[in-house]
This record gives sequence, C-alpha cells and structure tokens, in this order.
Amino acid sequence: MVTDRKGAAAGERLFNFSPGPAVLPLEVLEEIRRDMLCLPGVGSSILEISHRSPAFDEILAETRRGIGGLLGVPDTHEIVFLQGGANLQFSMIPMNLLRGQSQPADFIVTGTWGAGAAKQAALEGSVAVSWDGKSCNYARLPEPGEMAASPQAAYVHLTSNETIQGVQWKQMPQTGDAPLVCDASSDFLSRPVDVSKMGLLYACAQKNAGIAGVTVVVIRKDLLQRSAASLPAMLSYKVHAEKDSRANTPPVFAIYVLSLVCRWIRDTYGDLDNLAAHNAAKAALLYESLDTSEGFYTGHAATACRSDMNVTFRLPSEELEKAFVAEAADEGLVDLQGHRSVGGIRASVYNAMPLAGVEKLRDFMTAFRQSHRSATGPSGTAGGNA
Ligand SMILES: Cc1ncc(COP(=O)(O)O)c(C=O)c1O
Repeated sequence: MVTDRKGAAAGERLFNFSPGPAVLPLEVLEEIRRDMLCLPGVGSSILEISHRSPAFDEILAETRRGIGGLLGVPDTHEIVFLQGGANLQFSMIPMNLLRGQSQPADFIVTGTWGAGAAKQAALEGSVAVSWDGKSCNYARLPEPGEMAASPQAAYVHLTSNETIQGVQWKQMPQTGDAPLVCDASSDFLSRPVDVSKMGLLYACAQKNAGIAGVTVVVIRKDLLQRSAASLPAMLSYKVHAEKDSRANTPPVFAIYVLSLVCRWIRDTYGDLDNLAAHNAAKAALLYESLDTSEGFYTGHAATACRSDMNVTFRLPSEELEKAFVAEAADEGLVDLQGHRSVGGIRASVYNAMPLAGVEKLRDFMTAFRQSHRSATGPSGTAGGNA
C-alpha cells in the first residue's frame, strides 16, 4: 500500500499512526535534541558515556523510579532492562520459568503475538492452550467460563493488547496460584496495571514508552529462583537481576529515552489513570466513526474487546482501503495500513498521538466515506469483500 511521505516539507511532522516504532512525544524529542551533544552537568553525550558511570547510574535509577512510580511496582518485584525485543521474551520466559517444572505453561491466545509466544514456548517445554481465538479470527477475548486454565500451570501467558487485531483485555483473568505472565508490549504505560497480581510483565518500548532496543521485564522476585544455573548467563533473569541489568553493555540510549517518556507522562498527565482516560477518549472518537458509518467502516474487534491502542477496521473493498491509505497520507495522516497478515486499516493511537491527530483522522474518515458513499448498498450496508 502507498504510504508516501515524500510530500512532507522539511521539518514538517506528520500525524504518524505507525504500530511501532511509533510516534514519540514532541517534548521528549526536543529534549533529546537539546541534550544530544552534552548531557547537563556531564560534559558528554548520552551516546558517549560508560554504562558504569555515575551519570548512567542515575539515568538507570531514574528510569526504574519512573516505571516503578507510574505502575506502582511493589518491592516484591524487580524491574529488569533487556535487549532482543519482546520476541526474545517469547523464548526467555519458558527457558526461565518452564524448564524443570512438572506442569505445562498455559497460553490464552487472543491474536498473532500470543500465538507466536506459544509457538516459541513449545520449543522449550510443554504448553497447553487454554483458549485460542483463531476460529473467530481473533476478534474477541474469551468469556471467563471458556478458559480451561489450570491453577497448577507453570504460568499462564496472555497478551494484554493484540497489536495486529486490536483486541485488548479490560480486566486480567484470575489465574489462581499460577503466575500470570503478560506481554504488555503495545499497552505498556498506557493504563494502570495491578503489578502485584503479575508473575511477569514484559514490554518492548517502541510503542508507548520509547524507542526500539530496550525491553522491560517486571518479574516477581521469587520467580528469579526458577532460572536454572545451567542457563546461558545472557538468557537468565536471575543473572540480569543480580547484575543490575548490566550483565553486558545495556542499550543506554533506549533506557535514557524511556526515562524521558516516564517523566513526560508524569508531567503531562500526573498518573496512568489520567493517561488511560485520555487514551480511551481518543480511541472512542475513532470507534464512534465506525459505529456511525452505516456499514461503510467495519470494526474488526467485538465492541467489548476494542483496543484503545490499535483501532482496526475494514472498508467495503481492498481498492477502497488502498485509496483510504493513500488519500490519508496526502492529508498528512500516515502509516494507516493494517498489518500485512490481515490487511485492512489500523490506526495506532498510542500515548504520544496527540488528540489533534485523532480528530483529523476522524474528520478524514467522515469526508472519505461521503466521497465514496456509492461503494455501499442502497440501505447503507457495505458491499464488496470486507
Ligand atoms: C504485542 C506484541 N508482542 C511482541 C511484539 C514483538 O516486539 P519486538 O519486535 O520488540 O520483538 C510486538 C511488536 O509489534 C507486539 O505488538
């Protein structure tokens, strides 16, 4: 699909609906630019200082304080900064938490990323899928009675927000004694989470919290004891926790950006409750556009499971979807094409997407529908191959 950014004038920032790496807060980009040559009081760039210097000690501590303060991470949990993206966690989690356990890991699969995580875990050990939404095209989440999760499971894994399909858990399911393991890659720091109920929460940073290169793992301290001594050091949570996330050179710049984003969230919204309300209001504008479109736009996710992060929908035909993406780009609204595996349209409206961008997209959707209305049937019902 066409996502032509060539028309952007020098210095002109477009409204970027990319699923990740994604839009960053302008204030954060400006701070990075301002301090790029020289961190205040340090005399060198963040790109030049040792990861064991006092200046980086402070950045690491501030990042931990930022995440810990926003999420309310209790003393029972450790915050670890890793590399390899969320994808590496698909393997590290079973290596650390499943190896040597007598019971399988349970997976609640609500989309492409959860399915990918289950596949990697099965390479390491025994996996039980307690629910898989594939037959409903990952358009909804399970009802409580539909999941056959075992309370004895080594852990229960789910994906809090499926980035590709746009379905999001509103409330975490009860998992009894089995530790809950949550891939929060695409809604991390976008809303409050009860970390005390989590065995392990992990997220890559490049959607809501910063740039690619760092993955945050928040792990219950007692689970660190499951990491076998025979694991390669770089794959062991225990080693990373003991070495204060500096078992090797960490992604210093990505951690620095994460600290700035945490500060921006605190300064702009105060806490995650306020930020979540703002995010929900942004997404609601787009869902309202779908619901009032008389069938021109068809949302993918069931209403109760709609994501506040990734709004996914189809148009009456693939031709119209291509035209939508191209005409939106002409208006400065870019990266709206759905994931290559599912097609359609996806508007990613993470923390840093300004309300003005969402309003402009909403207005564009109305105008586009009016100018292509003939594509729907006489009663307003969508025709074509949506
Ligand atoms: C929910 C979810 N999990 C995992 C990933 C993979 O992240 P990474 O590319 O950092 O490995 C993504 C990335 O899009 C995601 O959205």
